[in-house]
Amino acid sequence: MHKISKLAVLTSGGDAPGMNPCIRSVVRTAIYNGLEVVGIRRGYQGLIEDDMYVMEARSVSNILNLGGTILKTARCLPFRTDEGMETSYQNLKKRGVDALVVIGGDGTFTGALRFSQKYPDIAVMGVPGTIDNDLYGSTYTLGFDTATNTVIEAIDKIRDTADAHDRLFFIEVMGRDSGAIALRAGISCGAEAILLPEKEMAIENLIENLKAGQYNKKSSSIVIVAEGDKHGGAYDIAKLVQKEVKFYDVKVTILGHLQRGGSPSAFDRVLGSRLGFAAVNALISGKSQMMVGLQANYIKLTSIEEALNQHEFKLEEDLMQMAEILSI
Ligand code: F6P
Repeated sequence: MHKISKLAVLTSGGDAPGMNPCIRSVVRTAIYNGLEVVGIRRGYQGLIEDDMYVMEARSVSNILNLGGTILKTARCLPFRTDEGMETSYQNLKKRGVDALVVIGGDGTFTGALRFSQKYPDIAVMGVPGTIDNDLYGSTYTLGFDTATNTVIEAIDKIRDTADAHDRLFFIEVMGRDSGAIALRAGISCGAEAILLPEKEMAIENLIENLKAGQYNKKSSSIVIVAEGDKHGGAYDIAKLVQKEVKFYDVKVTILGHLQRGGSPSAFDRVLGSRLGFAAVNALISGKSQMMVGLQANYIKLTSIEEALNQHEFKLEEDLMQMAEILSI
């Protein structure tokens, strides 16, 4: 078993609320166990550029409530090259780092897996941090709960004005390949329809659905569109529908990056703390190339390879059906 003594931590890809509680947990768990800790700024970009600093227990004071990530993040193409990986490896070796915690989504994990296959003397542990909730091996990813609550708060406000004016709103939420936020927000806000990348809904069916709503005396309608929906964005769909649905005045709202910000919810603070704690303990016990995740409220390890290969978000058909029935 390879005993570790110095651990580095980074956040990469899209930021997610809960990353800061997780960083705090990683740093303090490592220090408690006698390890030295290095923080890497801007994800793999900072790894390549050797942008790192020593972290102490006080480096992570008063960050539980902060959105974003104190380590900053980036989407880094050069890390995909052999040259970028070799420079990163040399930078870690130079500092005596022998373990790495990466907090991010599938892009982050793809890089982490390749890196640790190439350089197995650096143990790697993944923490699922993405608002998209699309990683196999964890029922929830860091940031999903907060982002969904942010979306719900916004849609509730839109519902007020939609109702006051008898309007139909198309609201676009994040999720290039994942309808997780759209589905949960749709159920929570009583959306009349939810369009997801995982399941194509014919425009004719959507129109029928909206006409039925009007016939059933609905005063407003809300359609949630995940950004990865196959018909295009909310503006494209609104145009297609507007021609057929004359009884409603149609409006579009794109929620955009506000969904990624904000103070993490209690759920994400606890999840971030648990995952960070588990990640360090797994490294101490000699594990590598794994991801820590939450399954049935217990922390479980899944190999990064499996988390990536099965990463497709399984559409929860039962929730879709329930959402349709409850919005009649
Ligand atoms: O991966 C999280 C996510 O927020 C996706 O839902 C979204 O498609 C993407 O990131 C946006 O990325 P960027 O901030 O780089 O435009």
